[in-house]
Formats: sequence, C-alpha cells, structure tokens
Amino acid sequence: MERERASGTLLAVAAEAVLRAGAIQKERYGHEVRIDYKGEINLVTEVDHACEAAILQILRSRFPDHDVVTEETALARHGSPYVWYVDPLDGTTNFAHGYPCFCSSVGVARDGVVVAGAIYEPLKNELFTTERGAGAHVNGRPLKVSGASELLKSLLMTGFPYDLREDVPGKLRLFNRLMGEARAIRRDGSAAVDLAYLAAGRLDGFWEEKLHSWDMAAGVLMVEEAGGRVSRFDGTPVGLVEDEIVATNGRIHEAMLALLRPDGSD
Ligand code: IPD
Ligand code: CA
Ligand code: CA
Repeated sequence: MERERASGTLLAVAAEAVLRAGAIQKERYGHEVRIDYKGEINLVTEVDHACEAAILQILRSRFPDHDVVTEETALARHGSPYVWYVDPLDGTTNFAHGYPCFCSSVGVARDGVVVAGAIYEPLKNELFTTERGAGAHVNGRPLKVSGASELLKSLLMTGFPYDLREDVPGKLRLFNRLMGEARAIRRDGSAAVDLAYLAAGRLDGFWEEKLHSWDMAAGVLMVEEAGGRVSRFDGTPVGLVEDEIVATNGRIHEAMLALLRPDGSD
C-alpha cells in the first residue's frame, strides 16, 4: 500500500516535469533557437537544455536522494533504488526544423523496474501517463492497444539511430522486409511519441535499434500497461540501457520478430 501511494506521487511528479518542459517547448516552437552538434546529424538545441534544467529542478526539489539519468548531462549516481530517466526533448531534429512532432518523456524505475512514466506532446496538449499495475491514460482517458492481428492490416512505425550512416544497407534491409508485409510504415522522429501512440492504438507495431533508456523508459511501460508487448528483436526483455526494441499490440509481435531476426527472409 505504501509502495502504491509512493508510485502515485512519482507519477504526479513525472507529469509535472513533462508539462513544465512542454510549456517551454510550446513557447519556443517556431522561433529561432541556437543549435549545437553532438554528431554530424545529432543536434542539441538551447531548448533541450532549458527543458532539462526545468525537469531537474523539479526532480531535485521533490526527490533530492533519487538518481537521475538524463540525455544532455552526465550525472553521478548515488546508488538510490529510484532512478529517473529523462528525455527533455524527444524529437529534437523535428523541433529544430519546425516539424510538429516532439515531446518530453520522464520515466522512473524502482530497483531497476520502471514503475511510472509520463510523456507530453505540447502541440496537441496530450499528456500520456502510466503507472505499473494501474494502466495507461491520455489526458485521464484509459489507453488500449489496437486489435490488428496481421501485418497486412497494420500501421508500423520505426526510427533510425544517429549513426545510421555507418550501416544504411542494414537499416534498409529491415525496413524493406517490414515494408513488404505491412499496410504502411511511418518514421516520425520521436520514439517516445511513437510508443505513446502505440499504447493509444494509433499504431500497431514499432521497431528501432539503439534506443536509449531515456527514449523508452516511460513509453515501454505505457505500451505494456495498455496491453501491448515489448521485447528485443530476439524476443528477450528490453533493458534500461541502449537497446533494440520491438513494441506491438501483442497480436502481431511474433510476425514482426520473425522479420526482424538476423535470419529473417529478405
Ligand atoms: C531521437 C528520436 C528519434 C529516434 C532517435 C532518438 P532525440 O531522440 O526519438 O525518433 O529515431 O533514435 O535518438 O535525439 O530527438 O531525443
Ligand atoms: Ca530521444
Ligand atoms: Ca532528446
């Protein structure tokens, strides 16, 4: 009971944090922002940093003893059983180009298991929330994954890591396999939005390589709590580290795994 109450508080703080970041994103969207480069095509804007500072301020004031893993700043860990995973702005490339698909994502794990998370897409004013054992919601309404049971009737989503240029043929091999089987594929540029939409039944399946803990902590729990399934390409559990991920409504999971396996037919 004590733990349940604690999770409720964790969720409230996660929601407060993403809403705060979303307000900053909305205010700055469409205006010129300073861009720096973490890699040739990997951008970071001043808005990523502003969102991160706002979220950290909230987390530090509420839970000064908890550990935080956040995309733009390497923070020391202190061995707390609670670890927050923060993506202050997911979809930075979109944001920098004025493409209206981005969010912030905050998930929190206790003893290595994600227990609550929130994703906020400010331009749509959609707040996605989830708590382990208590389902997933958007603006308070319960979420449920889709009922599609075959790839031919499925809308899939994917994304590509920033080092994709090192292996474009490998990325296209997987894309081609799925493209030949699905109804359609999208690539929208925000993994956290992708996972939230999957939980909401707006997509049927999603895959991506090299996602980070901050991209997926909240979204993975959201999909599972909405009745979906999440794994690595070989069907084993996804870790809270850089990892590959396939997330589905459950019904098309095995069909996607069969195509994503290294020996999947071309
Ligand atoms: C990226 C987005 C994108 C995905 C990349 C991520 P960022 O996050 O989620 O959709 O394909 O792998 O790194 O850099 O915008 O926070
Ligand atoms: Ca991200
Ligand atoms: Ca980010």
